[in-house]
Amino acid sequence: MRLLVTGGAGFIGANFVNQTIVERPRTRIVILDKLTYAGNTASLAHSAERVDVVRGDVADAELVDRLVERADAVVHFAAESHNDNSLADPWPFVQTNIVGTYTLLQAVRRHDVRYHHVSTDEVYGDLAFDEPAFTPTTPYNPSSPYSASKASSDLLVRAWARSFGVRATISNCSNNYGPYQHVEKFIPRQITNLIDGVRPRLYGTGQQVRDWIHVEDHNRAVWEILERGRIGQTYLIGADAELDNLSVIRLLLAEFGRESDDFDHVTDRPGHDLRYAIDSTLLRDELGWQPRYSDFRAGLAATAAWYRAHESWWRHAKAATERTYAAAGEQVL
Ligand code: NAD
Ligand code: TYD
Repeated sequence: MRLLVTGGAGFIGANFVNQTIVERPRTRIVILDKLTYAGNTASLAHSAERVDVVRGDVADAELVDRLVERADAVVHFAAESHNDNSLADPWPFVQTNIVGTYTLLQAVRRHDVRYHHVSTDEVYGDLAFDEPAFTPTTPYNPSSPYSASKASSDLLVRAWARSFGVRATISNCSNNYGPYQHVEKFIPRQITNLIDGVRPRLYGTGQQVRDWIHVEDHNRAVWEILERGRIGQTYLIGADAELDNLSVIRLLLAEFGRESDDFDHVTDRPGHDLRYAIDSTLLRDELGWQPRYSDFRAGLAATAAWYRAHESWWRHAKAATERTYAAAGEQVL
């Protein structure tokens, strides 16, 4: 299979490519990635000789057309992906996530190429603590510019599948963790703070709940859907690991041998979603998918060990990321 992977130098995309090279050696991969601040070809070091990386924009119609024409399938990971950045400057989210997806959809439509769209559970908005988890029929209700742009892109995919017969599937996954995640995100930010002897930073009270999944489990589900998913169907991916942010910080503090109150409360995120939770019954029943990382604590410890062992991968981004948070007005409460 000739696969075009957009965003293959980002966190989830790079893990997808690295896993695919090992587990499906007959797959030929071309990556299309703009190499924004979030893209890093060092994440592909083990795959470098087996993949072609094209530096370019998913909203560049001519380039996208040329690459899609030569592919059997497209897996679309590329996106602006960080909520906090979308609050500071929403425009790149509209351009990449909406216009970029439109551009890909037009190309796969023209060349009748199979398309898998990688999305997030955040399109559904947030849940009260006692509400049932999201399902594929939960109404869209996004809160932030990021989640609104992802919701918009999902709706374009649904329309292109129904109106133009594009052979598309969509997956909406919960919060990922694992190797090669940018240090702006919650878990790597706290791990790298702890490595540096700096106190972890918790937004507000830390009562918000996320449903954590290891990136390798996410990517195994993407492959199942790509190969055996029903065209036009939305699948939710989650590993039943709901935990509030305060508890995650406490697990990390214990992992580093620090006291359980050795962290700072900082300015909360405006519009901060309270809780996400995934019901992945459809994916499990229909495609037989199961998470392999069923113990979040063990997965978190392995991730901390990875960041300890790969300081050269993240060090260059750390100071700039912290400056961005400070410039956005983050303050210790
Ligand atoms: P990331 O920010 O780590 O990586 C995004 C990649 O896309 C980077 O390599 C970047 O250079 C590239 N990119 C950005 N704009 C581009 C453009 N215009 N053209 C081409 N490439 C561009 O993101 P991630 O965490 O790996 O997320 C990948 C996908 O998974 C996104 O679509 C995101 O919405 C979705 N998702 C993420 C999570 C999560 O927890 N991280 C959960 C569910 C779904
Ligand atoms: P994040 O990794 O940005 O993912 P998302 O916004 O997509 O859920 O944040 C995860 C949770 O952690 C979210 O509730 C915000 C919170 N958070 C902190 O408490 N401190 C931090 O330094 C960051 C980056 C996030």
